[in-house]
Amino acid sequence: MPRLTWASKGLPPPRPASLEIDSLIYPRGVGYPDLLPQNHLILGDNLMVMWALLPEYEGRIDLIYADPPFFTNREYTARIGRGEDSRKPQFWQLDRGYPDRWTGLEAYLDMLYPRLVVMHRLLSQKGTLYLHLDWHANAYARLLLDEIFGPDRLLNEIVWVYHGPSPIRKAFNRKHDTILVYAKSREYTFNVDAIRQPYDPSTVKTFASSPKAGFGKVPDLERGKVPEDWWYFPVVARLHSERTGYPTQKPEALLERILLASSNPGDLVADFFCGAGTAAVVAARLRRRFVANDDTWRAIHTTRRRLVQLGSPPFSLQVERGRGYSVHPSPARAEVAERYAILDPGALTDLDYWEVDPHWNGRIFRSWAQATRPRHPKPISDRLPLQDLASPSAACLRLVRASGEVEQLVVSHDVTT
Ligand SMILES: C[S@@+](CC[C@H](N)C(=O)[O-])C[C@H]1O[C@@H](n2cnc3c(N)ncnc32)[C@H](O)[C@@H]1O
Repeated sequence: MPRLTWASKGLPPPRPASLEIDSLIYPRGVGYPDLLPQNHLILGDNLMVMWALLPEYEGRIDLIYADPPFFTNREYTARIGRGEDSRKPQFWQLDRGYPDRWTGLEAYLDMLYPRLVVMHRLLSQKGTLYLHLDWHANAYARLLLDEIFGPDRLLNEIVWVYHGPSPIRKAFNRKHDTILVYAKSREYTFNVDAIRQPYDPSTVKTFASSPKAGFGKVPDLERGKVPEDWWYFPVVARLHSERTGYPTQKPEALLERILLASSNPGDLVADFFCGAGTAAVVAARLRRRFVANDDTWRAIHTTRRRLVQLGSPPFSLQVERGRGYSVHPSPARAEVAERYAILDPGALTDLDYWEVDPHWNGRIFRSWAQATRPRHPKPISDRLPLQDLASPSAACLRLVRASGEVEQLVVSHDVTT
């Protein structure tokens, strides 16, 4: 079989990340404080993170969605503040997103190849990998996946088509991405009835007038059809309700079709290039378990915020030792009144997210209540509930600014009646 080779091709010796639990997050308090989360959000380089997961997760992940940098040689910026609405630039600023810059194709393939090899090891026998790329690198990735999975494990080459403005004048507008789908074995999950679509009205009309129109086969018009391998979904730029301000965010509808087709409730879905967390959010909504990983703090925070807004099942936030984010003592003031922790109005400016652990043990933050900045120009809530206690205790508040800065303050409280 032909193979793709380049001078530096190889697998580096494993250097697993040393992962530490930073916090356990219980959206809306469900499960607090004792339920051990089955879902994980991890900050760190994904190769080191995947190596660290191998002892526990080898052969146990049922679906991996991978949406790496595309080899565009661009630097992506994030919109912070009210970045979801491009029509109101007075409400947002630009900040660092993530880099997609490489010294050349070899450097890019040196990044991609070992990661695809470990993803293959992590997949379960019924598991599937969806690798999302575009014209920049998909031809090379196809050869790598043929080598790793075997060419007969290619299930589909999905073309996601969309439209939007483009400055291009000397070629056709490049408006599709390619998603390469490979199964680990012949016994892969594919829930055909979960993804059926209504037939086009013209097809329904044709069969109503002549049942023999389909080469003698009459389709089950009620059941719907299996979608083709080209999909149209609008890009997130057009979906204001989903926009987070994180660059290259993918639409939930795209991930929903992938998860419905290739996983079942309770299955484990992983995304090691999670960005704004679309795959994790859809997994939580569809009752799949998830592992989501990225090496930028903004991506991890954006994903956490979305999961909290959704009311996801509990999840852990883990960080690669030495790669964590800094937590500063907060200059903000807070008071405890009527079973609430209440922030001083001055603390609300630029506040993106805040959370409270009412029984702070000084080690792992267990987030029992959270507030996120609302989408419309409403202020973020200035209060979070505290739990009843048998004795006075300390509550820890964590505040995340629009800039991504994290602050912490501890208040003592006694809300027994
Ligand atoms: C195309 S974006 C993913 C977008 C995501 N699918 C979404 O819907 O928002 C690629 C992401 O990969 C992350 N990334 C790049 N290299 C990485 C690495 N070595 N480890 C972990 N994450 C990485 C970037 O920070 C970026 O967030």
